[in-house]
Amino acid sequence: MSEGKKVLLTGGLGFIGSHTAVVLIERGYDLVIVDNLSNTTEEPLDGIEAITGVRPAFEKADLSISDEIEAFFSKHPKFDGVINFAAFKAVGESYKDPLKYYTNNIQSLSLLLQQCAKRQIPKFIFSSSCTVYGEAEHLPIDENAPIQEALSPYGNTKQIGEEIIRDTIEVHPELKCISLRYFNPIGAHPTAAIGELPLGPPLNLVPFVTQTAAGIREQLQVFGDDYDTPDGTNIRDYIHVMDVAEAHVCALERLFEEKNEAAMEFFNLGTGKGSSVLEVIRSFEKVSGQALNYRIVERRRGDVTAAYADTTKANEVLGWSAQYDLDDAVRDAWRWEKKIRNIE
Ligand code: WQD
Repeated sequence: MSEGKKVLLTGGLGFIGSHTAVVLIERGYDLVIVDNLSNTTEEPLDGIEAITGVRPAFEKADLSISDEIEAFFSKHPKFDGVINFAAFKAVGESYKDPLKYYTNNIQSLSLLLQQCAKRQIPKFIFSSSCTVYGEAEHLPIDENAPIQEALSPYGNTKQIGEEIIRDTIEVHPELKCISLRYFNPIGAHPTAAIGELPLGPPLNLVPFVTQTAAGIREQLQVFGDDYDTPDGTNIRDYIHVMDVAEAHVCALERLFEEKNEAAMEFFNLGTGKGSSVLEVIRSFEKVSGQALNYRIVERRRGDVTAAYADTTKANEVLGWSAQYDLDDAVRDAWRWEKKIRNIE
C-alpha cells in the first residue's frame, strides 16, 4: 500500500505522533516530521530509529508562524498526505491561557490547510478528541452524538478545527479528511524506546501516576470522588497509544485507497470500555506490585463525569479495533517510566 508514499507528521515528536511514526515507517511510508518542540525534545527521533532502524527527516518549525510554515513547505513541497498532531492538549491548562491554545491549535491548522490547498496535498488526517462531545447524554458515545458546547478552550479548538476543515473542503473538494476523535491515549511502545514524556508536571492522569510511583512527584491528587459513578471518580476510555497509532495507518490507507464515503469522515478511537480513576490506580498497583500514594481532592474544572466510546463505526468501517487493554497500557507506561528514570 505505501509504495514509498510521503507523509508529513506535524507535531510528530509528541506522544501520539512519535508512536504513529513508528508504525508508518514499519509499513514502508516515507516520513517528514515537523515539530516546534514546545512539549517534547528531539529524543523521540532516537527511539524511533532504535525501533525501526530508520531516522525520519525532522525539521523544527512553528507552523502557527506564517514565515516558518512557508519556509518549511518551500523545502518540502510535496506530500501524499498529512497527519496533523500539532496542538496543545491539556484541558486544565487551556483555561489558564486560552489564547495560547487558540493561537497554536487554530492558527497552525489554518496555515497548514492553506499549504495543503496551495500544494495539492490531497489527504488530511486531523487529530481530534472525544472532548468535542462534552458531557454526552448517552453512553457509550458514537460519532452521531451531538457536538455540545465545549467545556474548555482546548475542546473548543478541536470543535472549531473540525469546522475549519469542513469549510475548507467545501471550496477545495480535492482535499479529503478523516478526523480521529481520540478518547484517552495512554501507555508507551512495548520496547520502552519511546513513551509519554511531557515537559514539566504532567497534566494527564497516567503520566502523573507513573511519575508519582517513580518518586518524581510527591503524591497523585484524584480530582473528586463525588461523581455519579460506581466509585465516585470519573470514568474515561483509556486506549493504548499503539492502538491509536495503528488507527492512523488504517485511516491513511482508507484515504489513499479512496474508500472514504464522504469528503470528511469521523471516527471515535477508544476501547469501548470505561475505567474510573480509582480503577486506573488499582490497575497500576496490580501491574507494578506497589502501592500508589494518592489522595482525593476537589473536582477539576471542565471534567466530565464519564466518557467512553461506541467503537462500532471504527471496527466496521475503518476496519480497526483496539488490541490492548487497560493493564497492558499501564504496564507499558510503567516500563517506560522505569527506563527513563533508571529504576530496576
Ligand atoms: C483523566 C481523568 C481527571 C490528572 C485527555 C486529554 C485530551 C483528550 C482526552 C486527546 C480525569 C483525572 C487527572 C490528575 C486526576 N485526549 N485526573 N488527577 O482530561 O480526560 O483529557 O484525554 O485529545 O487532550 O487532556 O484526561 O488524563 O487529564 O484526566 O484525578 O492528576 O483523570 O479528573 O477524570 P482528560 P486526563
